[in-house]
Amino acid sequence: ESGNAAPSQLQDSKNQGTSSEAPTTHRALLDWVQEVAELTQPARVYWVTGTEEENKALTDELVEAGTLTRLNPETFPNSFAAFSDPKDVARVEEQTFICSEKKEDAGFTNNWMDPAQMHAKLDGLFAGSMRGRTMYVIPFVMGHLEAEDPKFGVEITDSAYVVASMRIMARIGTDVLRKMEELDAFFVPALHSVGAPLAEGEADVAWPCNEEKWIVHFPEDRSIYSYGSGYGGNALLGKKCYALRIASVMARDEGWLAEHMLILKLTSPEKKDYYVSAAFPSACGKTNLALLDPTVEGWKVETLGDDITWLRFGHDGELRATNPEAGLFGVAPGTGWSTNPNAMRAIAKGNSIFTNVALTDDGGVWWEGMTDEAPAHLTDWRGNDWTPESGTPAAHPNSRFCTPIDQIDMLAEEYYSPDGVPVSAILFGGRRKTTVPLVTQARDWTSGIFMGSTLSSETTAAAAGAVGVVRRDPMAMLPFMGYDAGDYLKHWITLSGAANQDKLPGIFLVNWFRRTADGGFAWPGFGDNSRVLKWVIERLEGKADAVETPIGFVPTGDSIDLKGLDMTPADVEAAVRVDPAEWETELAGIDEWYARFGASLPEELSAKLAELKERFAAA
Ligand code: GTP
Ligand code: MN
Ligand code: MN
Repeated sequence: ESGNAAPSQLQDSKNQGTSSEAPTTHRALLDWVQEVAELTQPARVYWVTGTEEENKALTDELVEAGTLTRLNPETFPNSFAAFSDPKDVARVEEQTFICSEKKEDAGFTNNWMDPAQMHAKLDGLFAGSMRGRTMYVIPFVMGHLEAEDPKFGVEITDSAYVVASMRIMARIGTDVLRKMEELDAFFVPALHSVGAPLAEGEADVAWPCNEEKWIVHFPEDRSIYSYGSGYGGNALLGKKCYALRIASVMARDEGWLAEHMLILKLTSPEKKDYYVSAAFPSACGKTNLALLDPTVEGWKVETLGDDITWLRFGHDGELRATNPEAGLFGVAPGTGWSTNPNAMRAIAKGNSIFTNVALTDDGGVWWEGMTDEAPAHLTDWRGNDWTPESGTPAAHPNSRFCTPIDQIDMLAEEYYSPDGVPVSAILFGGRRKTTVPLVTQARDWTSGIFMGSTLSSETTAAAAGAVGVVRRDPMAMLPFMGYDAGDYLKHWITLSGAANQDKLPGIFLVNWFRRTADGGFAWPGFGDNSRVLKWVIERLEGKADAVETPIGFVPTGDSIDLKGLDMTPADVEAAVRVDPAEWETELAGIDEWYARFGASLPEELSAKLAELKERFAAA
């Protein structure tokens, strides 16, 4: 008997034990699967192959179970909507742990618990946690299977929704497994359970999960455990857990960087290609910039990635970027035909899973900002009737679309290259109403790292607590660094210090969110950000003018191309103004932030802060 009947067949074969013959010769994987099955006690084990037929069988089952709603095949082919438990809608940062051997290796930005203590806790939680459910084994690779050193993982999960979503977000299945066998490769074991075992005869719910949630990383073992949540960032373990938290630790040990960045390709009117990566905190515009429709004449933008970038100094001394993911897991609200038509076109091709959006009466989806006017009637994300008068959001503010990346028309062909692309510029950005100019060029590489290390963003109404509070978010990696924040910054400095200094990218700080005195945005943003990208490239080419300020170089009023925009050079000057009073407050904030690092703050960065203070004092 094969150990891998189709999922629907497995549903019928109740007496199929957990010891069925597994379709691999990879000893370490077999042992781990066996061990997990013994611990979690699933009704059956299923090895995911990644085929179309398998996906069809799985999604059919999910529709029957009520987890997925099939959308209108004419408008959203092969697409589904899922509605989570209202208490399981986002990443749970307070329940996310980095369990390094030593507490100081997790650093002050992470939650930590002693690994032995955490393992004991997890063993208790996972014991019997898959009773009555199927245990799916998903071999996956982050990045290219043909990479020099492919980064394998295997997620074990008891959620078919996770299987269907992982299939979009990563390269999974039989091809990956064969390659793992061929190389007898190391893989990151990533164990996920929704934490909702079913007793004999007990009926399931549409979105099983547990009140108690734990997202745990053991950086020395390179292992991941996720319990109690089905939400993407907590449950699709290839993404934030592997490609950022565990990968950042691998990167530290192996000499590369795992970053919360988009990558885009820019082509100038002279047909010269440039690659730009950009790190902004969550919900601060990465997906929007990656899929930008340029308004500036003669410039073309293509996409390589919208959330995670792996950076390596290549043999030629250039910093090369790859996107380890295969899909988009984008914030739905605010994604619309007027702000992000490229994302909308990708979504409209189908093959997508939407989570916590609203349903239209004709079997489509809707969220705030998709169209200028809301439909007259919807079913909101909680399943209630909704009209524009309801006074509540129809879609959850953190509702998401999950779509294959190759459905993006503007996907750059280099996305498919395992060697990646050479980066010309790195942007750091956040959401700041005041203080931070539209764009500032760092005076040198280490000043750029300083900019990244002090990156900040205002909390939004969507998050608990006061609105508009400045939170420091180094390189937009605050929730994703798998080790000590000071060591992370030191790694940036030492790694780049050993690289070819002539080929280091330029670093720029951007802020699309600065306000004018009357409260409006100082800069139109979205497609017009292409005008800032043009200035960035022209600076690197030595063609654009700039003014030197204590924090770096900002554009002169007429160095930003405003053709076709209802803006004047004076408006640009206001958008890039460096206000000494605002910066006095900012420097105090940076002082406070740096004090929290203690001894682990690299001295190169405290030196940069001292220089900055001197420049303001002399100004
Ligand atoms: P994650 O996927 O969670 O990491 O977030 P992200 O960085 O991809 O954020 P996304 O692109 O989804 O942007 C989310 C929010 O930023 C939406 O509310 C957008 O409307 C807003 N936004 C994006 N770009 C701009 C811009 O240029 N100007 C302004 N004013 N708002 C923007
Ligand atoms: Mn993100
Ligand atoms: Mn995004």
